[in-house]
Amino acid sequence: MTSGQTAHDWLVAAGSALRGSIRVPGDKSISHRAIILASIAEGPSHLSGFLEGEDTRATAAAFQAMGVSIRAPAADQRRVLGVGLHGLCAPSQPLNCGNAGTAMRLLSGLLAGQAFASVLTGDDSLRARPMHRVIAPLAQMGAVIGSQQGLPPLQIEGGRPLRGIDYRLPVASAQVKSAILLAGLYAEGATTVCEPQPTRDYTESMLTAFGVPVQRQGNAASVSGGAHLSGRRLQIPADFSSAAFFLVAASLVPGSDLRLTGVGLNRRRLGLLTTLIEMGADIEISQQGLLDGEPVGDLRVRSAALRGVAVPLARVPDMIDEFPILFVAAALADGETLIEGAAELRVKESDRIGVMARALTRMGAEIEQRPDGVRITGVPALRAAEVDAATDHRCAMSLAVAALRASGRSRIRQIDNVATSFPGFETLATGVGFDLTRNS
Ligand code: S3P
Repeated sequence: MTSGQTAHDWLVAAGSALRGSIRVPGDKSISHRAIILASIAEGPSHLSGFLEGEDTRATAAAFQAMGVSIRAPAADQRRVLGVGLHGLCAPSQPLNCGNAGTAMRLLSGLLAGQAFASVLTGDDSLRARPMHRVIAPLAQMGAVIGSQQGLPPLQIEGGRPLRGIDYRLPVASAQVKSAILLAGLYAEGATTVCEPQPTRDYTESMLTAFGVPVQRQGNAASVSGGAHLSGRRLQIPADFSSAAFFLVAASLVPGSDLRLTGVGLNRRRLGLLTTLIEMGADIEISQQGLLDGEPVGDLRVRSAALRGVAVPLARVPDMIDEFPILFVAAALADGETLIEGAAELRVKESDRIGVMARALTRMGAEIEQRPDGVRITGVPALRAAEVDAATDHRCAMSLAVAALRASGRSRIRQIDNVATSFPGFETLATGVGFDLTRNS
């Protein structure tokens, strides 16, 4: 939320069955990357299904501030007049990434390769998030980036020749991988990133789609400096991470039958789907196909009794954004759910383990926090409570789902950042049957 706006709460009550067919907004990860690559491509690009979220608009505004013409011929569409790899202009002010970690980390790599200096900043949450993970590899490439002991704002000197590196990521992170590959476009020689566990590969596949050769072998991806990107048309699927709230809500609320259409089904995003199915969820996939190379499909979800599971360590990166909503499913499942190897959750838009554990405990859930995860013992129902989403969009929506299975009316505070990833959540949610109102 930007300063000057009033803070709002949600009041959410247990409601009746959820029904209908909805399309959630465009994929956030793809929308960020589409703006970035279209901006440095040669010629026009046309994006459809673009996420009209605050995060992705911040990325678009950053490129406009660097001289790129980006117009919105209609909602969810962008026409980007790419300026080529070396056509960006120095911004006259710090580039404000708002709440968007993806914007800041990807832009840090891209800006390290520019001839000009720039500053990247963000809101209170983003200014508390670790940036050393991008600064260290970019410094190895020759970039000079100042920070506040590893935290934003980042001062990127620019004007430094970059050299390709062979880098093994210490933490599985698509953002860090992408930052290094984007810097690699400006580096002398080849840049290779190897990840400990595979993460979402949109940067690699989109670079290829824009005409940049990307070598992929096992968990490694390489690019060479000096490639040319060509503008193109790109359709963006609906965001699985936004669909996730409805998958869990419809699973938990008896009598529900909900269809989510055109959802992106990249295999590096499907950890929650696999986990819910293991928990006994009733989810059917249909209309499967490819949308500009990305797998998509419709998901039909009907309510089902869920049971606890142990999430395999290898699956954690494939559902990294879905743990807040999995906590809700687990809190109401039969038996115990164990989540380990997810320490990254502590440094997302909030400390998602702490925020969700505190809020769900107030609602009567049984949750034991660990440094890198939780153990949750399911209960038959929750109780209404006043809880704090800590300005974290995914925690806010997850807690709204929890409130659907709580006796009475819950109040969820600090919900204003929901529009960073899911503009229109309230309208879609109430349209399928959530009893949810906004209150200031
Ligand atoms: C993202 C990668 C993930 C995810 C974030 C979006 C991306 O972060 O949590 O919401 O678009 O690359 P990490 O790569 O830091 O795990």
